[in-house]
Amino acid sequence: MKGIILAGGKGTRLRPLTKVTCKQLLPVYNKPMIFYPIQTLVSSGIKDILIIIAPEYSGHFLNLLGSGKDFAARFSYAIQEEPKGLADAFIVGEDFIDNDDVTMILGDNIFERDFSKEINAFKSGGMVFSKKVKDPERFGVVEFDKNKKALNITEKPAKPKSDFAVVGLYTYDSRVVSYAKKLKPSKRGELEITDLNNVYLKKGELKVNIFEGLWEDAGSFESLLRVSNLIASKEHTK
Ligand code: G1P
Repeated sequence: MKGIILAGGKGTRLRPLTKVTCKQLLPVYNKPMIFYPIQTLVSSGIKDILIIIAPEYSGHFLNLLGSGKDFAARFSYAIQEEPKGLADAFIVGEDFIDNDDVTMILGDNIFERDFSKEINAFKSGGMVFSKKVKDPERFGVVEFDKNKKALNITEKPAKPKSDFAVVGLYTYDSRVVSYAKKLKPSKRGELEITDLNNVYLKKGELKVNIFEGLWEDAGSFESLLRVSNLIASKEHTK
């Protein structure tokens, strides 16, 4: 199992904090944001990690993270010239993925627990995690039938069919590269991870795990402050 951290994008929702740096380098309490997804992958047993970054601040990531030795991991880097969407990461990462399985985590997604149990049990297809949230319209949303079987996933629906958001950690087999290449850009001009998940779902090969525990997408001022405060209070009670 290889790992990808997607840390591209322009972080426009966090301007002016992101005017001269990248979202994933902003502080979350006492660490740069990207340290948290690195820790999530490493503690899930994934040590071979491709970090996908935007060209503007690529040097900052290299200076901060280097070879990965400090994290007991091995880092490779790839440039995403334009923010073309989450699913584009598998096209940028094609050579790195090769014929292996891959887990991608978003560079602004913060979790408290690791995923070693589920990742070790992964055999083929795709696997995502879904969590009940108060603001599902911000996310990919899963519709379930009466037996909690996933029916479809909709990206940022105006009228969500459930409160279950898809969190930013995705595991796929190596077919993900060819599926990503076949996707068409959405209305917002991006290759959507939701479309990729629906490809696996339609084949009956997407496992949707219900996730409990701390999860924040630190991509807005409110969530950035919330997760910083949460981590600070946990550090103080240690
Ligand atoms: C992205 C995905 C969305 C997912 C979310 C998790 O949203 O498109 O499906 O639920 O990450 O953080 P974005 O960060 O692009 O708003």
